[in-house]
Amino acid sequence: MPLDLVTVPCLSDNYAYLIHDAESGATAVVDVPEAAPIAAALEARGWQLSEVWITHHHADHVQGLDELLKGREVTVTGCGADASRLPPLDRRVGEGESFDFAGEAVHVMDVSGHTVGHIAFHLPQSGLAFTADSLMALGCGRVFEGTMEQMWESLSKLARLPAETVICSGHEYTTANGRFAITIEPENKALISRIEAVAEARAKGEPTVPSRLSDELATNPFLRAGDAPVREALGMTDAPAAEVFAEIRRRKDAF
Ligand SMILES: [Fe+2]
Repeated sequence: MPLDLVTVPCLSDNYAYLIHDAESGATAVVDVPEAAPIAAALEARGWQLSEVWITHHHADHVQGLDELLKGREVTVTGCGADASRLPPLDRRVGEGESFDFAGEAVHVMDVSGHTVGHIAFHLPQSGLAFTADSLMALGCGRVFEGTMEQMWESLSKLARLPAETVICSGHEYTTANGRFAITIEPENKALISRIEAVAEARAKGEPTVPSRLSDELATNPFLRAGDAPVREALGMTDAPAAEVFAEIRRRKDAF
């Protein structure tokens, strides 16, 4: 039976995700921006939280954890190399490691750049990837701690996942990301129709995440830094893709 996935809006523009296996009852939450909406989503479905997976140390991804853990027996998983900046971990993981969730392998990917020690969780069997502030819908996180090159490598790693992978990212930034993306590729038809779909979803108050990797590959300027149309638009035909990415990231930071 496929895993259930629930998108939980938190704070003003964060998302947490619940993953639930109906057969075993195992339930994980990815990131804890705040406890109350997650607790309410669990209660509404009668699910018992068994695991927390943390993507990175930023407060808006971990600050609800203490409250959520009260009265619950939960295994907390996060990046071992960044443990000193994370809440206490029961399971420390890193690049290339896997752990089991409800009989399914969860692959850990180091996607440093936004922070050093940012990890993503990939469930190949279910076709899900939890990318938080690395790869986002129509965008990517700001490069606060790592280098531009490191962020490009992280995004490239995610870009190589199967195209049908469902990308569960950490924020509702898609409208603003679209406004920027169209300045890079004003004639990208897939981007134009995606921006329309995003506007429709937001008008109805619906989240624009998760998104499909194939759509990101077709429309997300940060993932497309190595592609000819983007290179040409920036007049960087012969530059290494990492440099093209860095130029797009700098333009977005100043947008
Ligand atoms: Fe962050």
